[in-house]
Amino acid sequence: MSFIDGQAGVLEYRGYPIEDLSAHSTFEEVAWLLLYGELPSSAELEAFEADLARLRVPSPTLVKMVQAFPVTGHPMQALQASLAALGMVSPKVDLRDAASKDEAARRVIAVTPVLVALFERVRAGKEYVAPRADLSTAANFLWCLDGEEPAEIASKTLDCALILHAEHTMNASTFACRVVASTENDPYTSCSGAVGALFGPLHGGANERVLNQLSTIDGVDAVEGWYEAKAESKSKVMGFGHRVYKTKDPRAKNLQVLAVKLFDELGSTPKYDVALKLEEVVTAKLGGRGIYPNVDFFSGLVYEKLGLNTDVFTPIFAMARVAGYCAHWLEQHEDNKLFRPAQIYVGQRERSYAPMSER
Ligand code: CMC
Repeated sequence: MSFIDGQAGVLEYRGYPIEDLSAHSTFEEVAWLLLYGELPSSAELEAFEADLARLRVPSPTLVKMVQAFPVTGHPMQALQASLAALGMVSPKVDLRDAASKDEAARRVIAVTPVLVALFERVRAGKEYVAPRADLSTAANFLWCLDGEEPAEIASKTLDCALILHAEHTMNASTFACRVVASTENDPYTSCSGAVGALFGPLHGGANERVLNQLSTIDGVDAVEGWYEAKAESKSKVMGFGHRVYKTKDPRAKNLQVLAVKLFDELGSTPKYDVALKLEEVVTAKLGGRGIYPNVDFFSGLVYEKLGLNTDVFTPIFAMARVAGYCAHWLEQHEDNKLFRPAQIYVGQRERSYAPMSER
């Protein structure tokens, strides 16, 4: 459902370049495109948005479950648990029934941002804010976080960021989703498993670490020395490198444009200058090995400007990527076969059992 050219830095969803989708579409249109393969007509989009509005309201039991989570937990742990809990309070999914599968996939896409926002409120000791039917996915998330009508620029920026994170071929978390799906699981369990895979620092968890990294660098002049110390200790620089892209990740380019637009409107941050210098230094040293900024390099600067907590950056990645997971989940169930990789055994064989007294 998506295509990457890692040398040329191209990403397309269902054949459409992400640049066109982020410039002209909404997250809801892109979610439909991923789920069903075509851009929606206006009637299809209207019906889909109405469906998402209906399905994004969590049951009171689910709200209570999330409110009972320990506030010491990471928001990604809370999200993984929330999606598993969603399965406990949702109708059983019939894998032979297209309508049942569609509704379950749409419920995950609709309610995930509400669950992320709810745990943010829980951590802040605040009351639950119910989602609204008249707002988009992005605007609703901001509404559920603050209980205030979000500024247009904030909703639009977040909407674009969601589009850019919605799908990315067979990455670790999408693969995890498909493996769990292949045992004939519903999308709640499959997406919960995928969120666990996304949490790690080598995958989606890099975005919060990028911002923490930029915070530890003491201005533009300190970048070279900071990098030398990293290289000396053989540590990786977060937000750089990718298994598939050997040039600058097209999503990083688009997120950088988004960040600059936001800074023009709301004022820049010294961290952006540090980021630009870091890109220059790392690219000069490692670009020859195909190591360039990835999607996680600029996204945190965007989210920080929107006033979001650093450790909620990866859940935002997740609330976009569930569109991709659910599209993969549907595709997996079109022609399912259990994933069961072969292994190459290199251990000993046919050993004589030693009784305890002889060990
Ligand atoms: N900083 C410094 N060196 C690096 C980096 C980096 N960010 N990335 C790769 N290298 C080096 C690595 O040390 C190794 O060097 P050597 O051959 O001398 O041991 C070589 O490049 C190959 O690295 P690898 O980790 O085996 O390569 P990979 O294809 O598995 O790398 C990666 C992909 C994303 C795991 C890696 O680039 C990385 O750990 N980056 C930092 C974490 C990060 O930003 N992750 C977000 C990935 S994109 C979004 C997402 O998937 O969610």
